Amino acid sequence: MAKSKAKKAKVKRASAKKAPAKKRIVKLRAAKKPAPKKVAAKNGNGLPKPSSKAWGAAGKALDGVRILDFTHVQSGPTCTQLLAYMGADCIKIERPGGGDITRGQLRDVKGADSLYFTMLNGNKRSITIDSKHPKGKEILERLVKACDVLVENFAPGALDRVGFTWEYVHKLNPRIVMASVKGFGPGPYEECKVYENIAQCAGGAASTTGFREGPPLVTGAQIGDSGTGLHLALGIVSALYQRNRTGRGQRVLCAMQDGVLNLARVKLRDQQRLKHGPLTEYSQYGEGIPFGKAVPRAGNDSGGGQPAWLLKCKGWETDPDAYIYFITQAPVWSEICDLIGKPEWKTDPDYATPPARLPRLKFIFDTIEQWTMTKTKFEVMDICNQHDIPVGPILSMKEIAEEKSLRDTGTVVEVDHPTRGKYLTVGNPIKLSDSPCDVQRSPLLGEHTDEILSKVLGYSAKELAEIKASGAITPPDKSRAEAA
Ligand code: COA
Repeated sequence: MAKSKAKKAKVKRASAKKAPAKKRIVKLRAAKKPAPKKVAAKNGNGLPKPSSKAWGAAGKALDGVRILDFTHVQSGPTCTQLLAYMGADCIKIERPGGGDITRGQLRDVKGADSLYFTMLNGNKRSITIDSKHPKGKEILERLVKACDVLVENFAPGALDRVGFTWEYVHKLNPRIVMASVKGFGPGPYEECKVYENIAQCAGGAASTTGFREGPPLVTGAQIGDSGTGLHLALGIVSALYQRNRTGRGQRVLCAMQDGVLNLARVKLRDQQRLKHGPLTEYSQYGEGIPFGKAVPRAGNDSGGGQPAWLLKCKGWETDPDAYIYFITQAPVWSEICDLIGKPEWKTDPDYATPPARLPRLKFIFDTIEQWTMTKTKFEVMDICNQHDIPVGPILSMKEIAEEKSLRDTGTVVEVDHPTRGKYLTVGNPIKLSDSPCDVQRSPLLGEHTDEILSKVLGYSAKELAEIKASGAITPPDKSRAEAA
């Protein structure tokens, strides 16, 4: 084989020698052409030819990815809902009888799944399995083998106790990515159960939120639960991408404390700046109040280098959301002075430069507020935007629910549900040009049990009947349980 190749090469070289000079150049050029392909393949970037289908017609970003969704409450379901929005087939395992505890929490419509559940579990299929039942474990093992990703957010050790340790899961399916949310990473608190606000407190958000003279405050945005779910989703798609090269799954862990700290990193920045002097952009500096050892709560101060504050607008006496967030960005200071009727501040040495303004911020914002109080928050927004002054109206949830542009982009979506009727949910906040999101309602408890057992796991009708009789997918028989 090697000899004949060498012979062919000799013949080629000989014919090249005989060819006229012009032709030879053409041949050499032709011979060079495949080089970029080789480089691409070497780098692992040997991508298929770009699809000629219209945008959005070539399937979804995560088509073909199957997820064993063993999540509950909020952090895990946020993650898997996002992956389902991206096109993954998400199979939610639920306890027979009650399912995810949130189905019944904060219920607004009697007998129907709560909004807590429906807004976190769209685009998924539901199967009921008792993971502590021997037959249930057998079904779970089959699912592990059939899935690309297992996502869970049970209390530390809960999955280990039913036998599904990472080692066992990896042995069952070496290609699977196993992703978990826990409250804390390895360390003194790793065994603790954690909910949203605990993570906000432990991740540095609460100690730096609120007013200096008040207690620490938790925020309305679910940065502990939904924030960590979002981090986990990135970990999962990264692990899937790496699997393309290694063929091997891996363990992905996101601790809620870490996720919150990642979102509160500017406050860790300020903690380190404190060593070198006061934080001049905090209004407490302008008020002459000394800083302590840790980053203080800064009310509505801006987190960045541009002084800002929340200001009242027309109607604030009766409307709790008649406010605007106003940023005194240095490049538009002249425009701000003109708008609020203080053109002299443009040249007054006490106001003309950002350092001169720092000790006077409270007075400056009080003066700007005299102007904003004469206008509605939307009027302030319109006027300021014409001058490139960054401001933001405080929008109530009512206003957001009714905002047309959010409906138009699919960020707020109305979905129909068989037992609760129409409800609003948050669609995919991440927009992909070739993977449009089609938001579907959440599944009823166990709605897809038969379908998954037969079509995904290949159980025959006879086996299905046996599984049903075994009690592995049905709620425990009360009379039997009581007799036992
Ligand atoms: N069949 C049978 N048993 C099931 C089951 C099923 N399909 N699904 C869950 N269970 C069992 C678990 O195995 C566990 O059993 P065990 O206590 O005997 O080990 C039990 O249900 C309860 O799970 P647990 O996670 O402890 O629920 P909890 O309601 O007590 O705690 C959290 C809830 C959120 C505090 C806890 O799950 C947690 O700390 N999770 C990690 C952090 C997190 O995600 N927090 C944010 C949630 S939004």
